[in-house]
Amino acid sequence: MGVPATYGQKSSAPVHVAIIMDGNGRWAKARGLPRIVGHNQGAEALRWTIRHCSALGIAYLTIYAFSSENWKRPQHEVDDLMGLLRIYLNRELPELVKEGVRLKFIGDRDRLSRDVVDLIGESEKTTEANSRLTVVVALNYGSRNEIVQAARRLAESAIDGKLLPEEIDEPVFSRELTTAGIPDPDLLIRTSGEQRLSNFLLWQSAYTELVFSPVLWPDFGPDDLDAAISEFQRRERRYGASSG
Ligand code: IPE
Ligand code: IPE
Ligand code: MG
Repeated sequence: MGVPATYGQKSSAPVHVAIIMDGNGRWAKARGLPRIVGHNQGAEALRWTIRHCSALGIAYLTIYAFSSENWKRPQHEVDDLMGLLRIYLNRELPELVKEGVRLKFIGDRDRLSRDVVDLIGESEKTTEANSRLTVVVALNYGSRNEIVQAARRLAESAIDGKLLPEEIDEPVFSRELTTAGIPDPDLLIRTSGEQRLSNFLLWQSAYTELVFSPVLWPDFGPDDLDAAISEFQRRERRYGASSG
């Protein structure tokens, strides 16, 4: 890996923005409403976020929709979230196609129901020719599991004699991750005031700028995204080198 072009300079616009969309439950609770209302409102925040990213010329937006740990939630909430995904995809797909959005899903599909697997597969296929903005949806995603699966595949290749252990380096490893071919996120935003990664893009975020917003996801608007990007642009990315 060479020294990135932004070395020693203030950052320009991010190519890849990742968002941990958190706070839907608290948004609903504050209003005495069921959590699903917060999730519905969160889906609205996502709609305009995609539009705004597209307008800003951001090439990749990765969103944490459902973590591999979110199965711990009550069954009715899991069902509500999967139901919302179905509604959202069916409703938004034509608009996404019109806007030149390419959809890609990462995460383990084994535990998802058959119709959801089919729906996300079809959404990927329908949008595969689009190139304006790639929206990567992390669904039943867990970063540690992703890394373990990559290690396992590399071990199998080595046992099969297709790869020497000493040939495994960072680029080779990256290519085994579900994000292969996607540049690492420049900016990662987490809403709702929590300041942790919750098993999201652990490998990929090695040098990502983290911005934590106190705003609950359903209230996160274009101005909040602009503010996070401005904060990013004030940062000096050093990648371990001396300050410029
Ligand atoms: C984020 O909001 C959405 C998902 C995790 C699917 P939460 O549901 O985690 O909201 P809080 O953190 O309970 O407020
Ligand atoms: C992370 O949020 C997952 C998503 C936003 C989909 P959580 O609300 O599940 O994370 P924790 O449990 O607070 O760490
Ligand atoms: Mg949460």
